[in-house]
This record gives sequence, C-alpha cells and structure tokens, in this order.
Amino acid sequence: MLLEGKKGIIFGALDERSIAWRVALKAKEAGASFTLTNAPVALRMGGINELAEICNTSVIPADATKVEDLENLFTQSMEQLGGKIDFVLHSIGMSPNVRKKRGYTDLKYEWLEKTLDVSAVSFHKVIQTAYKMEAINDWGSVLGLSYIAAQKVFPDYGDMADAKSLLESIARSFGYHYGVRNKVRINTISQSPTITTAGSGVKGFDVFFDYAEKMSPLGNADGDSCADYCVFMFSDMSRMITMQNLYNDGGFSSMGMNPALVADKLAENT
Ligand code: NAI
Repeated sequence: MLLEGKKGIIFGALDERSIAWRVALKAKEAGASFTLTNAPVALRMGGINELAEICNTSVIPADATKVEDLENLFTQSMEQLGGKIDFVLHSIGMSPNVRKKRGYTDLKYEWLEKTLDVSAVSFHKVIQTAYKMEAINDWGSVLGLSYIAAQKVFPDYGDMADAKSLLESIARSFGYHYGVRNKVRINTISQSPTITTAGSGVKGFDVFFDYAEKMSPLGNADGDSCADYCVFMFSDMSRMITMQNLYNDGGFSSMGMNPALVADKLAENT
C-alpha cells in the first residue's frame, strides 16, 4: 500500500492498453484515490468510464492544451478527493505529422505546433496551473512519459522526438522552480516501445519494437512494469528524486551492440 492516503490525477487512459490505464489499476491497488481525465473527444472513443468504475472514481474531461480546462480539472479533483493533490501522471502524446505520415524532412508546421502543444507544452500547462493554484501538496510528484528518441535518432518517430526533448527539458526546468517552492518533484520516465494506440501509430512500430526487444538484455519493458515504476515514483520512497529522465527500458539505452541481433542476421543469411 505504497500510496495509501495519496490523491492524484491521471491523464491519458484511452483503452486498456494505455500506459495510463495500467498505472490507474496499480495506483488503486497501492491504496491511492484519484480522478481520471482525458480530452473530451477521446472520452467518446475509449472505455474510460469502465476504468472509472473499477477504480471507484470519476472522469473529468479536460483538453490538456487548454488552461481553463486544467483549472477546472484541478478544482474539481480537489473537491472530489477532499484536499490537495499528491501525484499527477501526464501520459499524453499525439503528432498529426506522424499520424498522417509526413516525414521529418516534410513537416507541416501547423501540425508541428500541434505536436509540441499536445505532447510537451501541455506538460508545462498542467504544472503551471497546479503551481499557480497551489494545488499540489509539498513533496508531491509529477511524472511525464518520454521515449529515447529524445536522445538518439529514430527517423520514423518524426517530430515526436523534438516534443519528447522539450518534455524532458520542462521536467528539469519546472523541477527547479517547484522543488524550491514546495519540494514538488518532476520527472519523466523513458519507456520501451509499448503496444498502445499512440505507440502503434508510428510508422514501422513493429520493426523497432522487435529491434528493442532483441537489443535489450531484459527485453522490452511492458506497460505494467512502467506502472510499477510510476507507483514507486509517486510514493515517498522516491522522495529525493527530481528533475530526472529515468529509463524503464530493459537496458536498451545503455546498449551499443547485442550479439543476439548479429546471430539473427547470420542465421538469416545461411
Ligand atoms: P495512448 O494512445 O493510449 O495514450 C495517449 C493519450 O493521450 C490518449 O489517451 C489520448 O486521448 C491523450 N491525448 C491526446 N491529446 C490530448 C489532449 N489534447 N488532452 C488530453 N489528452 C490527450 O498511448 P500510450 O502509449 O499509453 O501513450 C502515453 C504516453 O506514453 C505518451 O506520452 C507516449 O508518447 C508515451 N510513450 C509511449 C510509448 C509507446 O511505445 N507506446 C513509448 C514511450 C513513451
């Protein structure tokens, strides 16, 4: 019961494969109470109400790019949960360029702005809204979800790579300000490729899923292992960790070459 008595807000559960969905189930198991939220358009598509029932909570619609929606979300969440918030999960990503298969050398700039707003600036908006409303308890914990394309080139990840770099930078920059004022911790978890709606929307996803699976000594980290990590990061056990990008990737980020991949190639050629 690592999260006993803690109150949270979980963004981004669309269906049961969503990382946020896995986090909600684990946070519930760990004793937390929380509200769920997603963009109004997503609420019509997914099964988030089913998750709310399982978690004995409610869903508050909010477009994470709209500050007035976020203000309403924090106000209503504090009312429903009976006090300030201890943890926030930002599990949001979307690129119109990636969706519509516009490669990195042919970006449509209006769509790039949308990518950055939805996938990165919304993280700042969530945190700044909470900061101004004094909505998060001292020693609270805020998490965003990132991908290693922020550090290394994965050509088909397109403009999402730039969004993830910005997301990680916001965690560091705001981590300073919120840390000084309230000891609130802000981190990102850099997750293995995971089969979800957002993940599978990337061109060639199955290829880099298999590649990462073979390259990583432990194999790919799944959504449930990410959820376990999030629970730890929301708990007091991780109270001195802030402004970090933390890898939950089975060791992928430290690998240069894995002989298993070479062995596969040799087997293909014989
Ligand atoms: P998902 O598609 O289940 O979740 C993405 C969520 O973003 C959806 O619930 C969607 O409704 C929400 N969203 C989009 N626009 C929004 C807006 N304007 N306001 C509020 N919510 C909005 O996919 P997944 O994989 O669970 O994605 C969660 C996070 O994990 C994203 O940040 C993603 O980039 C990150 N991630 C995913 C990986 C993967 O391979 N699936 C790998 C590494 C990171």
